Amino acid sequence: SEHETIIVERDGRVGIITLNRPKALNALNTTLMTEVVGAAVDFDNDPDIGAIVITGSEKAFAAGADIKEMSGKDYSDVVGEQFFSAWDGLSRVRTPVVAAVNGYALGGGCELAMICDVIIAGDNAVFGQPEINLGVIPGIGGSQRLTRAVGKAKAMDLILTGRNMKVDEADKLGLVSRVVPKENCLTTAKEVAGTIASKSFIAASLAKEAVNRAFESGLGEGIRAERSLFYSTFATDDQTEGMAAFVEKREPKFSHR
Ligand code: HXC
Repeated sequence: SEHETIIVERDGRVGIITLNRPKALNALNTTLMTEVVGAAVDFDNDPDIGAIVITGSEKAFAAGADIKEMSGKDYSDVVGEQFFSAWDGLSRVRTPVVAAVNGYALGGGCELAMICDVIIAGDNAVFGQPEINLGVIPGIGGSQRLTRAVGKAKAMDLILTGRNMKVDEADKLGLVSRVVPKENCLTTAKEVAGTIASKSFIAASLAKEAVNRAFESGLGEGIRAERSLFYSTFATDDQTEGMAAFVEKREPKFSHR
């Protein structure tokens, strides 16, 4: 393919992005960031794609930002280039994104998984924010998304000690959507993505936006945002079709209009 660090495929209405730097445990360097965000934005702009899967290898989803690339940088470098800010492009994608996580999801890898909307984890998955062990802190949203996902006590524990946590603990904390045997992780993620992609794209993308508002705002603002997003679904053909199909006891045929 035209990519150096990822593999891009499609399966029906599902776009699949596989991180592919096996020798570096999929460490997130600048090239990989640019390629992942670019591929996700391309899928987002493709009307034939209704959901995206991001996955790694069986050993590592991603072992973090590329420490070898980062180690030579100083303050002026990271501020000057707004290091990591391109990842914000992934959080602006409207298409639902499912992470299929086997093995290590550490540092930036854990943060990448948390940018995704649904996390399917294999039973060998390991999560953590070990940045403190390198004398830095999370830089791709980890201190914010982890805290909102699991609460202050657990986020402080993980981010201040830098310890890894196994999938059972991550599941108990509500960090992941489902845990499956590692052999089934990608298949399950594709099934979930396929299910999402079979829905009205408009409804799915508005639902994603509404849930994200809960993450990004206070309750009152979130409720108001949800209300107006909900009202807007009544301007779509898919709302008419979806409700008519229920009343007529048949499957809906969404036109994504
Ligand atoms: C660059 C990495 C890497 C990383 C692994 N490698 N993680 N290279 N950046 N984050 C490389 C190793 O150097 C090694 O290359 C090869 O991948 C295999 O890794 P090993 O360490 O030999 O594998 P193993 O012994 O199985 O240990 C796996 C591991 C360990 C526990 C995941 O690799 C590890 O601790 N990695 C770093 C995890 C981490 O600290 N992540 C957070 C990064 S900071 P060679 O060439 O030697 O074979 C971060 C910051 C976000 O994400 C924002 C803050 C600014």
